[in-house]
Amino acid sequence: MKKKIAILPGDGIGPEVMTQAINVLDSIAQKFGHEFIYTHALVGGAAYDKYKEHLPQATIDICNDADAILFGSVGGPVNAQQEAKWANCEAKSILALRKAFNFNINLRKTEIYPELAALSPLKPDLVKNGLNIVVFRELLGDIYFGEHYLGEKDGMRFASDIAEYNEEQIKSITHQAFKTALTRSKNLVSVDKANVLATSKLWRQIVAEVAKEYPEVKYQDMLVDNCAMQIIRNPSQFDVILTSNLFGDILSDELSVLSGSLGMMPSASFSSSGFALYEPAGGSAPDIAGKDIANPIAQILSAGMMLAYSFAMHEEARAIEQAVKNTIINGYRTSDLALGVGNEKVVGTEEFTKQVIKAIEHRFPPARE
Ligand code: IPM
Ligand code: MG
Repeated sequence: MKKKIAILPGDGIGPEVMTQAINVLDSIAQKFGHEFIYTHALVGGAAYDKYKEHLPQATIDICNDADAILFGSVGGPVNAQQEAKWANCEAKSILALRKAFNFNINLRKTEIYPELAALSPLKPDLVKNGLNIVVFRELLGDIYFGEHYLGEKDGMRFASDIAEYNEEQIKSITHQAFKTALTRSKNLVSVDKANVLATSKLWRQIVAEVAKEYPEVKYQDMLVDNCAMQIIRNPSQFDVILTSNLFGDILSDELSVLSGSLGMMPSASFSSSGFALYEPAGGSAPDIAGKDIANPIAQILSAGMMLAYSFAMHEEARAIEQAVKNTIINGYRTSDLALGVGNEKVVGTEEFTKQVIKAIEHRFPPARE
């Protein structure tokens, strides 16, 4: 198969982990006889340097012309946030991309590998067998895209943010989450704040209606405060979590840290036409950029998700997932994953990826070609 991929490395560690994800994609292309055509485009601070914009039209055009988008990360150092290049850089790049391509569904995956369970901030007993949770987060509604006001009222400084949902927005993501639940353990938790918010009351109604079309899926509603607590107390009760934009933002960060490193969580954002963007959920980590120490796993797994969801290359996607697992089982660790015990081999970004590629090649030896 021949596929065009828009490559948006962005800032910080984005470019270096992207290079490694491309190396992995190249090895898959070679093993499976595909051709991936990469077109690079600027986004975030990197785009600002050239265009004085965080998401220039040139980048949108390249994305429009591609079969999928592979995104790195954006954003600058904490102490430089007042510079125009970095001020609100993440929101200006990411929210604008979501809007430009109507990415209304976000899927984030948390996996704790049993070999890395000791890194988790959770009690060993809760995670010793590993953990695998996916979050479906609605991306274009809620308080994010309603009217924002910051000014004055009644002679005082005043601000307001409007949260909005219509039934189509809720239906669209709910179907997707239930369909995914069917392919997993058929257990879905829908998270809201229906004891207070009207948007959540509507959310709950629609989810109940859609659920009737998926009778095999066991589902329950859960209030977001309870959910945040249950994730820490008993995470293995969750398999598919379905939620609105703001709650999904918060819960997915909570889940991302359960694996013990921010460099582990891949994600995908889809439009209803099926076009998608894939990106690691962690940040651009400018403090460790360019040192060959960044963890490339989330970027590599995001590329794997692209193969599965955008190109229906399921065996290829499994090969990537399995290769990452084997690399961990073989004791390779980037420094964020090091525990300082046993047969650990602490390596850089590049060497870790070489081991992933070796694991792919080991599984699919040259005789296959
Ligand atoms: C995320 C980020 C974004 C969000 C920010 C950068 C606007 O936190 O993708 O989770 O809130 O959606
Ligand atoms: Mg977030």
